[in-house]
Amino acid sequence: MSSESTNVTFQQHTISREERAAAIGKHQGFRGCTIWFTGLSGAGKTTISFALERTLNEFGIPCYGLDGDNVRHGLCKNLGFSKEDRKENIRRVAEVAKLFADSGMICLASFISPFQEDRLEARKIHESENVKFIEVHVSTTLEVCEKRDPKQLYKKARAGQIRGFTGIDSAYEAPQNAEIILDAGNEKVDECLELVLQYLAQQKIVP
Ligand code: PPS
Ligand code: MG
Repeated sequence: MSSESTNVTFQQHTISREERAAAIGKHQGFRGCTIWFTGLSGAGKTTISFALERTLNEFGIPCYGLDGDNVRHGLCKNLGFSKEDRKENIRRVAEVAKLFADSGMICLASFISPFQEDRLEARKIHESENVKFIEVHVSTTLEVCEKRDPKQLYKKARAGQIRGFTGIDSAYEAPQNAEIILDAGNEKVDECLELVLQYLAQQKIVP
């Protein structure tokens, strides 16, 4: 069996992004985009993106948080943490995020996404269809993440009970051109949130 789809033809929707957006949320206008949080395990990706999800929701802006730990219970439950599996994880999630964004929602994606090549692919999946992709580097240092160790995963990785753990025996390639860098080791969640909201206001994504 071939692993590629063949004889499939793209089907054009009959309503535009603007028309779709007019029927959702309190505010008129299309503001669909993906905000992509990348960083080490324990950096604060989930916390910041879920806090942003709450804030946007309170503004009446439709949004949805896709998170690595959650997506790996369903859509990506057949994937592990090898380089190839992480690549496929990020590709699938980027495709789903793009669909959310195209629907007029703000998609918040929080994934370690350690490899530059895979993040560039995620960006390409969006930008090739004119969907905004905002990369946010949650740049908390390994030292701080390991000290926090909220799930005790660093401890297990150091003890050799988890192999291929990001930052320990698997690489994290920091972004070179992230739209936003959050120093979440030193700044509080609310301060990080404020920086993201400022950027979104500048881009006219939030009113
Ligand atoms: S990736 O690299 O983007 O495909 O990873 P992601 O889908 O974001 O999943 C990361 C969460 O999985 C847990 N976990 C691991 N992380 C890194 N390396 C290894 N080997 C690993 N094994 C399990 C961990 O809870 C990650 O969540 P966060 O929120 O980043 O701590
Ligand atoms: Mg998390």
